[in-house]
Amino acid sequence: MVNSHKSITGFSKLSKRGKIKWIVENFFKDPKAVTRELTSYWHSNEDQQKILDGFSENTITNFPMPYGVAPNFVINGETYCVPMVIEESSVVAAASNAAKFWMDRGGFKTTVLCTQKIGQLHFLWKGPKELLTGNFEAIKGQLLKSAKSLTKNMEGRGGGITNIELIDKTSDLEDLYQLQCYFETCDSMGANFINSVLEKFGSELGSFIQVTPRFKEHSEGFEVIMAILSNYTPECVVRAKVSCHVDQLEGVSNHFNGQEFATRFKTAVDIARIDPYRATTHNKGIFNGIDAVVLATGNDFRAIEACGHSYASKDGQYRSLSYCSIENDIFRFWLEVPLAVGTVGGLTSLHPIAKRSLELLGSPSASELMQIIAATGLAQNFGAVRSLVTTGIQRGHMRMHLMNILHQLEATEKEVKRALVHFNTEIVSFVSVRNFLDSGRQIKK
Ligand code: MEV
Repeated sequence: MVNSHKSITGFSKLSKRGKIKWIVENFFKDPKAVTRELTSYWHSNEDQQKILDGFSENTITNFPMPYGVAPNFVINGETYCVPMVIEESSVVAAASNAAKFWMDRGGFKTTVLCTQKIGQLHFLWKGPKELLTGNFEAIKGQLLKSAKSLTKNMEGRGGGITNIELIDKTSDLEDLYQLQCYFETCDSMGANFINSVLEKFGSELGSFIQVTPRFKEHSEGFEVIMAILSNYTPECVVRAKVSCHVDQLEGVSNHFNGQEFATRFKTAVDIARIDPYRATTHNKGIFNGIDAVVLATGNDFRAIEACGHSYASKDGQYRSLSYCSIENDIFRFWLEVPLAVGTVGGLTSLHPIAKRSLELLGSPSASELMQIIAATGLAQNFGAVRSLVTTGIQRGHMRMHLMNILHQLEATEKEVKRALVHFNTEIVSFVSVRNFLDSGRQIKK
């Protein structure tokens, strides 16, 4: 049964206060307190708030996330302080530690392998296949000509449409064909550009079929299903790597020498190459770093994640995105990941803090940003796997977790100090920390 007081028509037309009023009265026990709390996150500057509201719909407040920085990232000899938006404790600390560690060992070396993006026009064609394939060069020429007004600016910046292919998908789905289109979008992520061009191609192909002799008698059998970019960009890939002599890994662990550490580390990465269960968690660690920078720079983390995971399955099995080798005592650790990001357009130039993030990074091109993001992903992966094969992950995590619980329980500075010593050897849980604080507070009474 529909709960009538919880549904509404015309919600989007209400003012922001009106929206909050309806929400707090229908969903919360303490409307006044919730209203105060929600409105307390409104930006103090009305113009800035308008910008934020403009990114979405039905906005009632802002959702704050921590914005941290990881300094000391040396990438191809340049030093960066990397902005990271993430809500998980120890991610920024791990990135900073790994950055510092590799700064002393030559830093990260990164290379953009390719920057091509893909879009598809999916259409049905019931006419003879040869009519399409035999005339495809002419069709292609006409499509390219029709999109000139859309591509002119991008071409001026050195980009545009790089190729169009006709793909026959009829063996998978009846009458289905695709135009697989390739794009260079320079410093923009390019979603709007690509989608506009593809939609133009759809209408142009329809017109071509309707007016061209031999095609027009089959025009009833032509139907555009959809025109949309693909977030799978296996030809927009960056590589980040670190390397050093195994002797330089001496001291990473109290229990293992450099050679032993390197071997354990490589085995952990190899496990993630062969086992999808481990690979998923391993790659999640990589995306802890990647997503944090993608978010901080106003890029689309859903697109980046979706693409990264497809890429991790490119040979038919889901595998780690990073690799490790030890040859002649040289430890090498590297990551290859597709990253379709932009540094102009979209949120990157509208979100006030995303703009600052890019400034902090020295106003990088999209290719430079790809390299910074990949290095952060690799640093994160190094930090996580290093912990896993040495102390275990809980040690670092639990310290942060402990701090969060202490904060939540309003521990004093003195109590925090005592708790840090106590929980060095004890298991951290909300209950154990509360009991610890309670017993101390009891004694005081
Ligand atoms: C936690 O957010 C990420 C890790 O699980 C990654 C990994 O296991 O490699 C620590």
